[in-house]
Amino acid sequence: MYNFDEQIDRKGSCSVKYDSLKEVFGKEDLLPMWVADMDFKTAPSVLQAVKKATELGVYGYGFRSKDSIDSFIRWVESRYNWKIRREWISSAPGIVAALPLAINTLTDKGDKILIQTPVYPPFHNIVKENNRTLVKSPLRNTENGWEIDWENFEMRLAEGVKMFILCNSHNPLGRVWSKEELKTMGELCCKYGTIIFSDEIHADLSLYGNKHTVMATLSDDISNNTITAMAPSKTFNVAGMLNSVIVSSSERLLGSYNQELKKLHLDLGNLFGHITMEAAYRDGGEWLEELKKYLEKNIDFAYDFIEKELPGVTFRKPQSSFLLWLDFRGTGLTHTQVSDRLLNVCKLGLNDGLAFGKDGEGFFRMNIGTTLANVKEGLRRLKMGFTS
Ligand SMILES: Cc1ncc(COP(=O)(O)O)c(C=O)c1O
Repeated sequence: MYNFDEQIDRKGSCSVKYDSLKEVFGKEDLLPMWVADMDFKTAPSVLQAVKKATELGVYGYGFRSKDSIDSFIRWVESRYNWKIRREWISSAPGIVAALPLAINTLTDKGDKILIQTPVYPPFHNIVKENNRTLVKSPLRNTENGWEIDWENFEMRLAEGVKMFILCNSHNPLGRVWSKEELKTMGELCCKYGTIIFSDEIHADLSLYGNKHTVMATLSDDISNNTITAMAPSKTFNVAGMLNSVIVSSSERLLGSYNQELKKLHLDLGNLFGHITMEAAYRDGGEWLEELKKYLEKNIDFAYDFIEKELPGVTFRKPQSSFLLWLDFRGTGLTHTQVSDRLLNVCKLGLNDGLAFGKDGEGFFRMNIGTTLANVKEGLRRLKMGFTS
């Protein structure tokens, strides 16, 4: 019903993915399968709403309307059985922007902040840039998939961690954390007085029947110890609208966050962001279900292709989202050699695993949030670079 096969030429559209290749990779002749946005048009309801607003021709100050907030409240209640009140909700011009706001107001200089590596690069950088101490609890690559090293996780918390930045579901590993895993993490954080910043930007993209659980739904104690960050940005491919939703049932946590947001005059938000959010959460559900089926098809294709054609390269099918964490360690090449081949032989722009932590050595992240034709072309290039 929706045409996810449409090839859209994004070059020259101020797209980070397409128009920043030279700055990021030092060359332009690459098939970009890196930064996490998709190549699909957004849901028709969003397109229509943006078109209507564009045609008005007046783009003055905007605000997040009650309808827009209500569409989010209904979305999370229907999808995650998360019942939230309007006064628990705040905003951010992106979740990456929300992180320093939360860190600066809820922790002090030098405080320890925990992350689970390998993980989304800004988690590392933002902690360091804001003069906090980065503490890492590496995830374990086991026969059954990526798992939490519980002994290590608790040991780190017991050493006095002020905040835990959780990636739920996990980028780049694609893990949809189970209720039990989340509950254990949440309870341990409560026990050791560690605030949880739960980044749930990929929540809506759970695949293959996996069910996303919102950390804050697991108990009142956990809810009152958590700031949740969500957004329509990944789900509906509207990241450029810079409009995220921040939620906490804790007056203390949300109050401090809001103070910081207002101090920096970032609370007004972007006009098109508000319009997008309302239309996406109100009417975008059907489109999202179709999108997820398309993503599963792309992943299945890549999995079969790599298994058959690329000995030495492996990956686990992500339980969520559109990012493949490709493991090149079986090729016998060094990380630098793989990187060099990807760029100069395959002419592929992938994310370097080392940006996600030192446990990302030998890994590169491939974005398959694109047409199946592009996925096939990316895989053809990979084969050319790694089987000759
Ligand atoms: C885990 C995670 N958090 C945040 C972001 C970016 O969020 P935003 O665009 O809202 O700043 C991404 C984008 O890839 C992500 O994967």
